[in-house]
Amino acid sequence: MTDQARMAARLTTLFHDETFQVLGALAKLLRRYESVRMKPLILSSGLPESKVSYEIDLLLKHGACAKLGGGYRLNMLGLDTLSLHEFASSGLVSRLGPLIAKGKESDVYEVVANDSSMVLKFFRIGRISFRQVERKRPYHAREGHRWLLACIRSAVREASVLRAMEPMEVPVPRFVARRYHANLMGMELAIPLYKVKELDDAEEILMKILDGVRDVYNRARLINGDLSEYNILITPSHRIVLIDWPQARKVSTQNSELVLKKDVANLLRFFRKRFGVVKDEDWAMNYVLALH
Ligand SMILES: Nc1ncnc2c1ncn2[C@@H]1O[C@H](COP(=O)(O)OP(=O)(O)OP(=O)(O)O)[C@@H](O)[C@H]1O
Ligand SMILES: [Mg+2]
Repeated sequence: MTDQARMAARLTTLFHDETFQVLGALAKLLRRYESVRMKPLILSSGLPESKVSYEIDLLLKHGACAKLGGGYRLNMLGLDTLSLHEFASSGLVSRLGPLIAKGKESDVYEVVANDSSMVLKFFRIGRISFRQVERKRPYHAREGHRWLLACIRSAVREASVLRAMEPMEVPVPRFVARRYHANLMGMELAIPLYKVKELDDAEEILMKILDGVRDVYNRARLINGDLSEYNILITPSHRIVLIDWPQARKVSTQNSELVLKKDVANLLRFFRKRFGVVKDEDWAMNYVLALH
């Protein structure tokens, strides 16, 4: 299993200020160019050509960027390295801890931040489909470039949703900061519901989740859109936490009620199959939609 962020953490100790200036310039120009040539790199980094060349060689040597046409392209290892460096230099993260989960769309790590533990979620959006494209087409520069932008976009979306929910007293992780495609948030000492085989208080837990969904709907005017046993955590004291928000929808968007219905149906199906708790879907929808 490639533990890419761990490689990135190692690179943050090998690289120096100018290396990060060049990496930062590559990231800044990501939207504009697939392949960044020397001239914009010099302008954007503010470094002389000889320095830029030297740093680019260092980045190439460690696999943190790639040659493409007459220029250079940032890759995921480079973006991870830059993100970790910025978290560290803002004093937000001091050490990368163990990998907690490798999801479809992210790599989630425990990190040490000051004296407490937090979660750092690196987006790897559509990792599987992008990989398939890469296999079919060995010349995959365009996909690589789009992949990084898609990951940054998802992190931006999740960050803005978590931030919007912060004052609302809803059961979601506390958002701390974003750097590029990675979100730093409070760590929940909890496990996802799909890992729980038995629950003495299953009905009560289901009601807590419905309360959470209802509060998010009524207070934050948002719908998760991917609510499932994978995205609901439960703590040892049976508090619940709703995670995974990049795809969240505003209540005001078209068909949002259908999205909510799907979320509620998924939830009820899981509780019925796993714990034998049966609740009517219309009743549950009315419960969530009602103002409290
Ligand atoms: N704040 C958190 N505290 C503790 N664990 C977390 C936190 N956020 C995420 N995790 C862990 O990381 C896993 C993946 O997180 P998340 O669901 O946000 O990403 P994902 O890539 O969408 O995952 P998947 O594709 O499997 O749904 C979660 O199932 C959970 O185990
Ligand atoms: Mg998830």
